[in-house]
Amino acid sequence: MLYLWLKSAHIIFVIFWMAGLFMMPRFFVYHQESAVGSEEDRKWIEREGRLRKIILNPSMIITWVLGLALAYNIDAFSQGWFHGKLLIVLLLSGYHGWMMAYAKKLARGERTMTDKKLRLVNEVPGITAAVIVILVIVKPF
Ligand code: HEM
Repeated sequence: MLYLWLKSAHIIFVIFWMAGLFMMPRFFVYHQESAVGSEEDRKWIEREGRLRKIILNPSMIITWVLGLALAYNIDAFSQGWFHGKLLIVLLLSGYHGWMMAYAKKLARGERTMTDKKLRLVNEVPGITAAVIVILVIVKPF
């Protein structure tokens, strides 16, 4: 029973985390349209800061804690599908870290990526989520 509650909470926080991961690069695209130092620039810095502090960082940490608790419960550490999932989730966490760094760059007035590149990297969470769901549900290995 506790296991099912843990799993429900895990999926709820996965949804929050993914929502934040999808939103942030969209924010970056709009943010880059504003002039450095303008009122609009200041507002985007604030919005990105809130998204980071209220949604992205807490939901990533909670997803990890609950996911590891689930893995411990079903002894997943010895199973192939879980190794695959861990690898993809580490990649996704790296993407999260890159986004945090880019938000800080934008706050300093540095705009190193084109809108096209930002839209392209925005595909990362969708693709990784699809692979993760197949790994946890189908467990192909
Ligand atoms: C952050 C590190 C994560 C860890 C350590 C982790 C670990 C786990 C474990 C051990 C389970 C239980 C599987 C089972 O009962 O057979 C699980 C379930 C699940 N996880 Fe994760 N997970 C993580 C992140 C994610 C992410 C990012 C997603 C989606 C994008 C995700 C989606 C799911 C889903 C949909 C289930 C339910 C599968 C079922 O029906 O049993 N997890 N997770």
